[in-house]
Amino acid sequence: MKREGAMLPGFGNHHATEAVAGALPVGRNSPQHAPYGLYAEQFSATAFTAPRHENRRSWLYRLRPSAAHAPFAPYDGAGLLRSGPFAERPASPNRLRWDPLALPEEARDFVDGLVTYAGNGDVAAGSGCGVHLYAANRSMTDRAFFCADGEMLIVPQQGRLRIVTEMGAMPLAPLQVALLPRGLRFRVELVDGPARGYVCENYGAPFRLPELGPVGANGLANARDFETPVAAFEDGERPFELIQKFQGRLWTTRLDHSPFDVVAWHGNAAPCRYDLTRFNTINTVSYDHPDPSIFTVLTSPSERAGTANIDFVIFPPRWMVAEDTFRPPWFHRNVMSEFMGLIEGEYDAKSGGGFAPGGASLHNCMAAHGPDAASYRKAVTAPLAPQRIEGSMAFMFESRFPFVPTAWAMETPLLQSGYDACWAGFPKARLPWTASGDEEDGQ
Ligand SMILES: [Fe+2]
Repeated sequence: MKREGAMLPGFGNHHATEAVAGALPVGRNSPQHAPYGLYAEQFSATAFTAPRHENRRSWLYRLRPSAAHAPFAPYDGAGLLRSGPFAERPASPNRLRWDPLALPEEARDFVDGLVTYAGNGDVAAGSGCGVHLYAANRSMTDRAFFCADGEMLIVPQQGRLRIVTEMGAMPLAPLQVALLPRGLRFRVELVDGPARGYVCENYGAPFRLPELGPVGANGLANARDFETPVAAFEDGERPFELIQKFQGRLWTTRLDHSPFDVVAWHGNAAPCRYDLTRFNTINTVSYDHPDPSIFTVLTSPSERAGTANIDFVIFPPRWMVAEDTFRPPWFHRNVMSEFMGLIEGEYDAKSGGGFAPGGASLHNCMAAHGPDAASYRKAVTAPLAPQRIEGSMAFMFESRFPFVPTAWAMETPLLQSGYDACWAGFPKARLPWTASGDEEDGQ
């Protein structure tokens, strides 16, 4: 792939980039003769008539029309990718937690290494999301993938990647995330051996930056820190496989050339990456543990105000300075449903390693949860000096729709059988008339 390295700053910006000088038409999108005989193609990530502030589309100028392909046939690959409506198993009200996904022993690339843990909503209705993990030990070679069902948020946990897309290539490392528009063709290369991570497949409105309200014009994930690759292309005259996910199933076809043949493009429907360590973390400097919405990186809104189809929320390194406050996350029962993952370190509401990097947990709508007993005891006895949480990065896919685990997720030995024990062993509170320590119930 020619020309790589530079990145274009800004979230959702209208960019213009060309890998060959003069390849980008000037002053119009579809001239009678595009430069060099390139084929102009509009790539729409929203409806043509979406409001201007939500409209995402780009114009691609390529060596061949992307329409030049044979019919798709069902793909018979490794096959642990699922999609909504999620109905293999009943939704579970139980709190669930999984050990880390093992790296594969057999050859697996990103596509064949995807395993669906849970999902919600309905891919055909354009609501909800799919939650997948990937574990791969080889690069995608001479094949490309695109997801017609939704945009993909890729959260690496182990191993650096190089994501080659139609619109340019970008390196991606753990503590960075990539956001790939629905339908964009891409391949994933492994840079330094086996790789593992999480994927949120968003069937709803495209992710955007959350409103900042009284926070003001700056803060949380700043728009300028999102990076989009510059145009780069392959002039590959050899067979390629093109796999797509469409309405929950995988389909495949063959091309006689590389699909990564976009020489120039302009527009605002484009892939981007974001470095989570650049998150401007905002928190209390007085008292109480604020709601975790202060940690929202990206949100996919629903038609109900303030009630997200899906939020991507992180728990980054930060100072804890609250006075007279139980500092870890409090006990809670939440109308929103929470799928959590851990990139590195230890999450401050769980101790003992049960929630490990590469693992996952699910707390569905109204499931009571919060700190485990050990974390609770530590927090109520800790001196309230300023404390730095260091070397930890947990995250959450939070949704208005309960997550339904797949059959695989409910049957895998990775599912921990004793997770509820986290919340056993809390001593009963003592009212004044039981302060002597007897075992009588209060009246
Ligand atoms: Fe929670």
